[in-house]
Order: sequence, then C-alpha cells, then structure tokens
Amino acid sequence: MSSVDTQLHAALARALSGVPHQELRRRVTALSKRYRTEQITDTTPGISDPLDALAYAVTRMPATFRALHAALTEAERRVDSSFATHLDLGGGTGAAAWAAAALWPAIRTEIIERQSAAIHLGRQLAIDGPRAKWTAGDLRDWSPHDRVDLITIGYVLNELTEDARRALIQTAARTATTVVLVEPGTPCGHRRTLAARDLLIEQGFRIAAPCPHAGPCPVDWCHFAARLPRTELHRGLKNGTRNFEDEKFAYLVATRCPARPAPARVVRRPVHPKNRIVLDLCTSAGTAEQIVVPKSAATYRAARHTTWGDAWPPPS
Ligand SMILES: C[S@@+](CC[C@H](N)C(=O)[O-])C[C@H]1O[C@@H](n2cnc3c(N)ncnc32)[C@H](O)[C@@H]1O
Repeated sequence: MSSVDTQLHAALARALSGVPHQELRRRVTALSKRYRTEQITDTTPGISDPLDALAYAVTRMPATFRALHAALTEAERRVDSSFATHLDLGGGTGAAAWAAAALWPAIRTEIIERQSAAIHLGRQLAIDGPRAKWTAGDLRDWSPHDRVDLITIGYVLNELTEDARRALIQTAARTATTVVLVEPGTPCGHRRTLAARDLLIEQGFRIAAPCPHAGPCPVDWCHFAARLPRTELHRGLKNGTRNFEDEKFAYLVATRCPARPAPARVVRRPVHPKNRIVLDLCTSAGTAEQIVVPKSAATYRAARHTTWGDAWPPPS
C-alpha cells in the first residue's frame, strides 16, 4: 500500500468508529447495486444521507481514488504543464483531491458537489489529508469564477443527462487547460468518454492519454484496471475473500498544453503463451497485435514488465 492509500484507509476507519455495522452493510449492498446497474440518474441521487456517504466512501472511494490516480499519473507523464490549481466536479467525498495531492502535494483543490452528506464526510476525511475546499453546487447550473490548470470529472457523467454532460464538458473546456475524465470501465462508460473526447477535440484540445492519436477510436471497449488493496473491513462489508480488487475504468486526459501521447497503448491484459508475449495495442494506425519472442532479448524483457494500460514501447 502507498502512504496515501494508508492515510486514506486510516481516515475511513476513523470515520467508521461507532457506526452500526449491520446497517452500514445493508447500505453498502443497496448502494453497490445502484452503482453496478447504473440506476443513478439526474433525479435519483446515489448518495442521499450520511450513512450512504459513508457506505460510498468505505467501499468505492479507495477504488475511485486508485483509478483517478492512474489517470492523473498519465497527465503528469504526458502533459507539459505544472498543476497548481484544480477543480473537481461532482467530487463526492474527495477521491480526486486525494489522488491529485498524492502526485502534486502543493496542489489546491476545490470540489463542487451537491450532496451535503458527501461534502460533510469529505471534509472530515481530509482533515489530515489533501488541501481541499468543498463548495456546494449543482453542476447543471454551475459557472466557474476563475480559470484553473486542471479539472477532473470522476464517475459523474452517468449521473447527468446527455445535454447536461455536453454543457459541463464545454464549461470545463473554457475553464481548464487540462481536463481528466474517469468513468466506470463499462461499455457505456467507454461511450460516454468517447463523446466527451469528441467535444474536447472540437474545443481545440489535444488528446494526451490513453489514445496515441486524436482520430476515430478503433477499440470496441477501451477500459483499464487499477489494482488496489482491500482491507479486512472492506472484505467484510463486501463479502469478499480476496485481499485486492481490480477497479475497471475508462479515462481521458485532454489538454491545451503540449502533449506527448504514448506511441501505442496496451489495451488488454497481455497474454503469455509459451515463449511468446502477445500485446494488443491501440496505435495511430488502428489496433494491432504485437508478438514478442525471446530472440529479441531487450524487447522481450520490456514486454514481460508491460501490463494492461501501459505505453508501448515503454520509455527507456
Ligand atoms: C459516483 S459519485 C463520484 C464521486 C467522486 N468523483 C469519486 O470519484 O469518488 C458521483 C458524485 O457526483 C455528484 N453529482 C451528481 N450529479 C451532480 C450535480 N448535478 N451537481 C453536483 N454534483 C453532482 C454526486 O452527488 C456524487 O457525489
């Protein structure tokens, strides 16, 4: 576990003290179902009271934190810019603020969120964590005061209508020099990310990651996985036995700054049949399969350390 994972888990454990476990378990089950089946809409909120906020934070926030951290790591690698000011839209209990602070400790984050229970819990969790300020607001009629270096929108687009999504992306494009989106790693999440990608390209943004190009997407269902540790508490609440989980997510890093997209991106988990490594790639010429054999020793060694979501070839 990284030190920020540990800090976040400690903050969550503190928030849980004295909370009735059985009731929390029931909320976790109901909330997981609502999110898994994407039943949350513009008018049916996912989080509506303090126990929902806690259920979300304990079971989802470590995973959304990891996915946002993976996407922001790509922003750090691929965008020629420094990030000092950050707006997180629909930030809930603050996962993006934690992820941004893990990469850029001095960054100042403002979170726009409409659910008071999420705001209250986010502030409580962040006491020993990121420098973050919550502002109560509804993204459907939100207008920013100042320009910022970075906007994140994590796991929010599916809670908005198509018109509201479009308006939000356009406002984000006018407000930030870099926009990072993260959506669930479902086919619908991929499609929402692609629609936002088209809009951002229309607004003059470059695509820095995961795509190696700004042309039409050749991948049916582009998504990635972030592995995260599961604590004993998390396993208990989710009836899980494994001590890790893989959070599947789709993402996009788009920017007005100079960008260095990966030459190609590994878009599935590599497979290792005997004496070969097979990499499924997205390239500027479409999708491609690269078979790496031990004869090319350096390339083979690099391929053995390459995983789903990585750039190919890896930076030397
Ligand atoms: C699935 S949660 C994601 C929270 C956080 N971004 C994360 O990655 O953990 C979606 C969040 O978006 C917020 N949200 C949805 N629609 C909103 C709106 N119209 N205005 C402000 N916040 C909204 C919800 O209240 C909720 O906290």
